[in-house]
Amino acid sequence: MVNNVTLTQFIIEQQREYPGVSGAFTLLLNDIATACKQISHRVNRGNLIGVLGSADSENVQGEVQKKLDIITNEIMINSLNWTGHLAGMVSEEVDDIITIPAHYPKGKYLALFDPLDGSSNIDVNLTVGTIFSILRCREGVDPALEDFLRVGSEQVCAGFVLYGPSTMMILTTGHGVNGFTLDQDIGEFILTHPAIKIPEDTNEFAINMSNQRFWEAPVKRYIEECLQGQEGPRGKDFNMRWIASMVSEVYRILTRGGVFMYPYDLRDPSKPGRLRLMYEANPMAFIIEQAGGACSNGRERILDIKPQSLHQRVPVILGSKNEVERLVSYYQDADKPASSS
Ligand code: AHG
Ligand code: MN
Ligand code: MN
Repeated sequence: MVNNVTLTQFIIEQQREYPGVSGAFTLLLNDIATACKQISHRVNRGNLIGVLGSADSENVQGEVQKKLDIITNEIMINSLNWTGHLAGMVSEEVDDIITIPAHYPKGKYLALFDPLDGSSNIDVNLTVGTIFSILRCREGVDPALEDFLRVGSEQVCAGFVLYGPSTMMILTTGHGVNGFTLDQDIGEFILTHPAIKIPEDTNEFAINMSNQRFWEAPVKRYIEECLQGQEGPRGKDFNMRWIASMVSEVYRILTRGGVFMYPYDLRDPSKPGRLRLMYEANPMAFIIEQAGGACSNGRERILDIKPQSLHQRVPVILGSKNEVERLVSYYQDADKPASSS
């Protein structure tokens, strides 16, 4: 007999096993799933409904917005602000904290999201996604900045939805990582990839090589050694991928291992990295660690970084444990005082 486990069934059963997971949390996840189904539908319809192309506007980070950046942001906010499960939100596309309208009840969670990750890929019909992070909020308060600026290790849940050949949700509540595929016919996410684990070793790396001349020495050393392949110190050949869509890269790493790097570079001293801590690096770090991988900025575990601002950027190195640890050790070597070397 076929017995498909839906996302809702999975969360309710997990709730029974780990009583800390509340009914309100199950409902919040359902709200997010509903929003992502709407996004999936829009992304899939593409130019049939005129949603591709630029919007002639910039977000808070000075990036040109795609029409779908704006549409997906509105879908997320409008699907989550009335349900009574959230006390506030943060989005890549919105400068300040998003408050819950006064006529709606407030819940005990905070949601932080990148409504459309990899949006430069949307017009070329490649996989994009939505990334989300859930924090618990002090009850009965209007959340202030400090309620959001919490270390990643305090996340109660993180996930992302991929809009690719299949629409998939990858989810962790701190008890491993599970993958669900959207069955378009019945409109439900079905558990298809239980207990995802990342292989500890890999011979595949992902980095935007066009920034090579701006990298710090440890990253230059690591990549140079990979490129030397079998003849070099690593004694094996490496493969390279760069999709420019973090959701796709992370999903590939969850599936077959690998290391993803968007390291610090010297292009613009005001930007200590490309990716944003609160709604890109933190949720991905939680997922990667829960799947047995590692995630660092080179010098510190991502989940230990104390955030300073909502849209702060960080260098990111994540994926197969042994490779991330190797690169981190190259940073340690480079940071040693000259006398000790
Ligand atoms: P977003 O579309 O939300 O701005 O994020 C894009 C991110 C990430 O998904 C990807 O890894 C990286 O930016 C690509 O950057 P480059 O274009 O510099 O390679
Ligand atoms: Mn993004
Ligand atoms: Mn985005």
